[in-house]
Amino acid sequence: MDQAEGTISNAARDLSNEDLTRAVFASFGNSTSERFQQIMQSLVKHLHAFVSDVQLSEEEWFKGIDFLTRTGHITDEKRQEFILLSDILGVSMLVISMNNQKPAGATEATVFGPFFVEESPRFANGDDLANGAPGEPCFMQGQVHSITGEPIPDARLEIWHADEQGFYDVQYKDLTQARCRGHLFSDKAGHYSFWTVRPEAYPIPDDGPVGDLLHAAKRSPMRPAHVHFMVKAAGYQSLITHVFAAGDQYLDSDAVFAVRSSLIAGLEYHKPGTAPDGREMNTPFYTMSYNIVLVPALE
Ligand code: BEZ
Ligand code: FE
Repeated sequence: MDQAEGTISNAARDLSNEDLTRAVFASFGNSTSERFQQIMQSLVKHLHAFVSDVQLSEEEWFKGIDFLTRTGHITDEKRQEFILLSDILGVSMLVISMNNQKPAGATEATVFGPFFVEESPRFANGDDLANGAPGEPCFMQGQVHSITGEPIPDARLEIWHADEQGFYDVQYKDLTQARCRGHLFSDKAGHYSFWTVRPEAYPIPDDGPVGDLLHAAKRSPMRPAHVHFMVKAAGYQSLITHVFAAGDQYLDSDAVFAVRSSLIAGLEYHKPGTAPDGREMNTPFYTMSYNIVLVPALE
């Protein structure tokens, strides 16, 4: 026996498939943090069970590696294909749901998505966020209040959504200005309001490896029309959510499983005439109304 061999335990040699799983599990048994150990051991257990369950071939294993490699290569500071993968596998929504259990009546959280931009333009209540985006005018309003009904003034509402073409401003190559995007603050009575264009349903980016996965599964990349909100107010838990347009054909087949019934609001059509803020409209327009209910911050 040479010296090197003599120092190595032979406990991890000639392993049966079951013993291999046990050995990898045990290899994380002395980790630097208990939580890390728990996560890694559970991952090993479930990953090995999956490989055995489907009796993964070497060719299939390599295809999986190639898929993850392509997912990494297409990811950059503008495109996060791993989050998209998590979204279409329902992992994002599961994590959000588990970590955002709220009392009855509170506005539910849903996925963040990849199209948020820091430092959006500031608007006053009643302003038009569309900034020339294609689409039919839409007036949106509501009140920010607590679960016990008190109005919440000065809540910061970040708003972003897709236009009539189903695109966010950041998806237009030559557009340098924000469109259908901005932030404003609720007034003394907690009310907020803004003009924009009617949000439209759109496909999530499906020209990369995640798109290949969707196409192989004959799954639709479509998301129902929605407006994103991120709401922050002193003394309350922050909220990241969407308000979905009632009647959208994709409400029950959202590519990222993010629809909650409580987040659906009517999108009402109006003939030309007086809008709720007194504006005289000489074209048809839409209105949407949604109250945002926040939960007090944890002590
Ligand atoms: C979005 O709503 O912006 C979105 C969410 C998940 C994946 C892609 C887009
Ligand atoms: Fe979106």
